[in-house]
Amino acid sequence: MSTAPTSGPWWRHAVCYQIYVRSFADADGDGLGDLAGITSRLPYLARLGVDAIWLTPFYRSPQADHGYDVADYRDVDPRFGDLADFDAMLDAAHSHGLKVIVDVVPNHSSDDHAWFCAALSAVPGSPERARYVFRDGRGDDGARPPNNWQSVFGGPAWTRVAGGQWYLHLFDARQPDFDWDNPEVGDEFESVLRFWLDRGVDGFRVDVAHGMVKQSGLPDQLGSGRGGDLESAMSDTVRPYWDQPGVHEVYRRWNRVLAEYAGDRMAIGEAWVVDAAAMARYVRPDEMQQVFNFQWLEAPWSAAAFRAVIAETFAAVEPVGATPTWVLSNHDVTRVTTRYGGGEVGLSRARAAALAEFALPGSAYVYQGEELGLAQAHVPESARTDPSWFRGSGPGRDGCRVPMPWAGTRPPYDFSPDGAATWLPMPSDWAALSAASQDDDPDSTLTFYRRALGLRRDLLGALGDRLEVLDRSEDVLALSRAGDPGLVCVLNCGTTPAPVGDLGEPLLTSEAGAVADGRLGPHTGAWFRG
Ligand code: GLC
Repeated sequence: MSTAPTSGPWWRHAVCYQIYVRSFADADGDGLGDLAGITSRLPYLARLGVDAIWLTPFYRSPQADHGYDVADYRDVDPRFGDLADFDAMLDAAHSHGLKVIVDVVPNHSSDDHAWFCAALSAVPGSPERARYVFRDGRGDDGARPPNNWQSVFGGPAWTRVAGGQWYLHLFDARQPDFDWDNPEVGDEFESVLRFWLDRGVDGFRVDVAHGMVKQSGLPDQLGSGRGGDLESAMSDTVRPYWDQPGVHEVYRRWNRVLAEYAGDRMAIGEAWVVDAAAMARYVRPDEMQQVFNFQWLEAPWSAAAFRAVIAETFAAVEPVGATPTWVLSNHDVTRVTTRYGGGEVGLSRARAAALAEFALPGSAYVYQGEELGLAQAHVPESARTDPSWFRGSGPGRDGCRVPMPWAGTRPPYDFSPDGAATWLPMPSDWAALSAASQDDDPDSTLTFYRRALGLRRDLLGALGDRLEVLDRSEDVLALSRAGDPGLVCVLNCGTTPAPVGDLGEPLLTSEAGAVADGRLGPHTGAWFRG
């Protein structure tokens, strides 16, 4: 298996750190993260060894979906700062050598967006309504929704407004969908991209990139799809609103816009599509540069599952000349240590999986807190804030969004100044997980991440583009990356020590002492010189 070489545009082999802005660092003491907080923590990220940061939405928004409901795409929400804070953060990030990716949310706006407010006060059939998906209801009195589509967050995807029409919202009722058949919408988003490109951002993460274009005539959804949880609701492509062929025209246009700017600007799509082949359509040479490889994140802790995802990924991206991406967690899914079984074992497995991720050709996305080994936090019902939880779709996402513990022995662990109430409560037992307490500990997850990323950076120049999956026992994943020197990564997904073969001394292991007597302990991984 091979992919494009490690030379070329920066994003081809970058490690990008996802900052969930609300929960990263709070400079002004209101319990909510902000841009100045990010600026203050950039030295930490530079030392961690990542190449880029991706910021979740910080635009003006009533925060009905924590910023994924944008009221003004060209301004910073006062909760997070202002445009001057953004510019200062961007400059500082660049001076640390970090690229900056911002989120763009094109499927829907907030119901507070000026366009939607105008649509509400305009009459049916007006140009104002034509920017969104307004339709008459079914039945004599129009009291039934226009079709049977369900919101990803649960419940009907339609809400009726005064005067009788219904509007479409694939997510919360406060997130009306744009009508991408209306050329005004495409023009507006080109202008929004240019606004941030002109300010100097290096790329965009495209929210719900497989949405936007709906099947013409808005036909009923046939069948019930793959299931009711949020991830299935997002990825079930038999639905007439996901992965429609017309959406690719949008990315062809954006590709041309990005190409006008110097510096290898890029876009990465959040497209929860059904398989790797569908994913690859988003990264054809004239579309987006990258797409999240959610198959990696969805794989269980299993060498066979990892092997299958790796093979499928390369088979899909190679024909279109794209490089793969790898992601273990983000702000929408249960934290990886918890998914892998929780406790010590879950953490060991997560560290080992990170080693595999960083050994693979392509680019990796790390979600804040992964480097501290954070587990899904328990958030009491009374403190829940996630609209998907309130609308009844699955366990909710608050538990992976709890603020970062930076230092100190009790909440808010220096996320906010002492005494501030954080927007989600922080667990009382996170003191040992804080960045400060892991800083000097040679065995901590933070130290391990720093070593792995540092070594990856050192090795990258010598590593070629070829990856071979070595034949080992069923429970062992063994990857060989060609180069001079090359890199071999071995993961033991079994429950007993496994022989690693004649690989010499490990360069790095996911746990101290993981390799002993030529055997790799269970739930661990190791890098060797190839
Ligand atoms: C994406 C975001 C998620 C948000 C949804 C609606 O999936 O990652 O957080 O709720 O889109 O914008």
